[in-house]
Amino acid sequence: MRVQIIGFGIIGKGFAAVLKDKRDVLRQRYGLDIKVVSISDITGTVVNENGVDIQKALQVMEKSGRLIDYPGAVEMGGLEAIEEVDADLVLEFTPSNIKTGEPGLSHMLKAMEHGKHVVTSNKGPLVLKFRTLKDTAAKNNVQFKFEATVGGAVPIINLAKENLSCDEIVAIEGILNGTTNYILTRMHKEERPFEMVLKEAQELGIAETDPSYDIDGIDTASKLVILANSIMGINATYQDVKIQGIRKITPEAIELAKDDGYVIKLIGEVKDSHLEVAPRLVPVTHPLNVEGVLNVALLKTDVAGDITIVGKGAGAIETNSAVLSDIISVWRNGNNRNDGKDYP
Ligand SMILES: NC(=O)c1ccc[n+]([C@@H]2O[C@H](COP(=O)([O-])OP(=O)(O)OC[C@H]3O[C@@H](n4cnc5c(N)ncnc54)[C@H](OP(=O)(O)O)[C@@H]3O)[C@@H](O)[C@H]2O)c1
Repeated sequence: MRVQIIGFGIIGKGFAAVLKDKRDVLRQRYGLDIKVVSISDITGTVVNENGVDIQKALQVMEKSGRLIDYPGAVEMGGLEAIEEVDADLVLEFTPSNIKTGEPGLSHMLKAMEHGKHVVTSNKGPLVLKFRTLKDTAAKNNVQFKFEATVGGAVPIINLAKENLSCDEIVAIEGILNGTTNYILTRMHKEERPFEMVLKEAQELGIAETDPSYDIDGIDTASKLVILANSIMGINATYQDVKIQGIRKITPEAIELAKDDGYVIKLIGEVKDSHLEVAPRLVPVTHPLNVEGVLNVALLKTDVAGDITIVGKGAGAIETNSAVLSDIISVWRNGNNRNDGKDYP
């Protein structure tokens, strides 16, 4: 399978690193040989139809942080690479932008229009144009996979779509942002004020310099929109989510909750077509009470009952577990291998 990488930052480089380790497994288990035929970042593109040397690309990035410094790299943007380079699948790993969806939205649509499957970790385009992307994929007879956009390594979407495929998912609730969970966990354990814990989280690189995207619930709301659309078939956008963040949570509120056997968590919930992100009281013994940067999702279903899934919501390596499983799924579907057989 010929693959193009658009965006060679944390996730793009993580993909290259995981692919190096998993090449043999992919060949042996699935007969899947992934050839990276181009890599693009904002500085330029490396193209090799026989396969880009990903080890060398990683070395160049480590040295200069600019892909254009790869010998033979050209000043070609991601869109042009999608148009010009022959490939089966585009991996879209550019930054999430929930205001315009760009540059990811154009990359994804262009790839689909050129008959290329798309696998992505980029939320922005899905939050704004989920229906358009699904319709464009269907129209062009290509597959569109996005497990890594929600919950990083945690396979929430595939769990619902593949494993609970006969169940109706009647509600989803979860902690979908590791930064807020980290802050609330430390506030709970150390009884310290929000600003102090946030500052330390920023020093540790867990929270951004501008933390509003996480702490005001915007990131959680974006992920909730993707879950509502993809799992529950609700045609929701970001504007449909009622959002309250965690800025106003005081040590006193946490203390009161603690005395009664609760923790305060930022919970995203979709139920009866209603989408909401808000701090909630969660009993300490409840499955949604997970600590630190962990993510968790609880799926309420009509047949299986409640199913809870927990894991790492981000990370260069971990997130690529979701990316690779999406690629394998595209490969199996393309080869008519989703035949119910028990592949390892
Ligand atoms: N990091 C995580 O753990 C994680 C987990 C789940 C999902 N995600 C999502 O995955 C995506 C990638 O995340 P990341 O952490 O890898 O971000 P990142 O480190 O900022 O990397 C983004 C990459 O995209 C490149 N880029 C920007 N504009 C471009 C353009 N027009 N054409 C081609 N390349 C362009 C950047 O180049 P320059 O660096 O040269 O600007 C950089 O290589 C984001 O949408 C993010 O929300 C991340």
